[in-house]
Amino acid sequence: QAFFRSIMNAAPSSPTKRHSKISVVGAGNVGMAIAQTILTQDLTDELVLVDEIPDKVRGEMLDLQHAAAFLPRTRIQASTEYSVTEGSDLCIVTAGARQMNGESRLNLLQRNVTLFKKIIPPLVGYSPHTILLIVSNPVDVLTYVAWKLSGFPSNRVIGSGTNLDSSRFRFLIADHLDVNAQDVQAYIVGEHGDSSVALWSSISVGGVPVLSFLENQQIAYEKEMLEKIHKQVVHSAYEVISLKGYTSWAIGYSVANLARTILRDQRRVHPVSVLAKGFYHIHGGDVFLSLPAQIGRGGVLGVTNVHLTQEETQKLRDSATTILHLQNQLHI
Ligand code: NAI
Ligand code: LAC
Repeated sequence: QAFFRSIMNAAPSSPTKRHSKISVVGAGNVGMAIAQTILTQDLTDELVLVDEIPDKVRGEMLDLQHAAAFLPRTRIQASTEYSVTEGSDLCIVTAGARQMNGESRLNLLQRNVTLFKKIIPPLVGYSPHTILLIVSNPVDVLTYVAWKLSGFPSNRVIGSGTNLDSSRFRFLIADHLDVNAQDVQAYIVGEHGDSSVALWSSISVGGVPVLSFLENQQIAYEKEMLEKIHKQVVHSAYEVISLKGYTSWAIGYSVANLARTILRDQRRVHPVSVLAKGFYHIHGGDVFLSLPAQIGRGGVLGVTNVHLTQEETQKLRDSATTILHLQNQLHI
């Protein structure tokens, strides 16, 4: 006797609703913050966790499954084998060593490149049409490495980049002006790290450009305040890591926000790490760094032509040089 008697001739569930599947590789602080946010925001029908430590990844899966009574119905699987990721629409890679207290992201590079050589080929082998979203650090160079290892077109390989830095920037500006961070539009571009570039001309509050507002009001000191805020953004990760050992919650929300834009084809503009060669006079090699890009179900749909001052353009090119210098030493 079926638990529920089926209703005769009930219309089949809508055949057009596309089943979505997200795989998160790396079930650590960041991977689990991302997974938990994806579940809470009901972003996918199926969530897969992959990690190299079997007990850890199974324990994380069970712990999330036990919250089922409080969450939208989502199938959750976990494994050390990449076969479990087969047919993923989106693969989020957070596996890797993280910075030790005071260590720069770029120092992590060789350790994580070696790891990507083991992760990326099976991941894309099981999901040849997926979008790769790279989070592991140094994220810009590792996004380039994932692109090379995957053989994917560059529009399907994205790094979380300065989507997180820009969120920190918006928070600090909002806090300073006592407004809601969601009403602050502000981009940080370039390297997700020490050489990031704040686009002052992009800052607006409720649609009002801040710089022209300040100039009209002859508020020169505010520019120093904005410079100070950018320095605080660059320092943010080091401060949080020195206090709690790692960062996780903000990156969790930042990456879930990108996952929503991709899976729901929102076609929103995000500052994310994309193949930047040829944009804003960036030359000298294939380099991934963050630019304001339109993102949708097909990945990167285009890079926006934000007006940059001469100083901002030069800083962006310097950021590209920093990344390329490191990248050119790699053996992929
Ligand atoms: P964690 O150490 O807590 O987690 C890393 C996980 O990766 C561990 O569970 C480990 O078992 C797993 N792992 C290692 N090798 C693996 C392999 N070959 N296959 C599958 N899983 C493997 O580290 P956490 O704090 O989660 O950070 C992860 C990465 O994310 C680091 O590189 C960190 O720098 C980066 N990160 C990037 C941010 C960004 O804005 N792009 C922000 C915060 C962290
Ligand atoms: C951060 C580092 C860990 O920005 O990438 O949180």
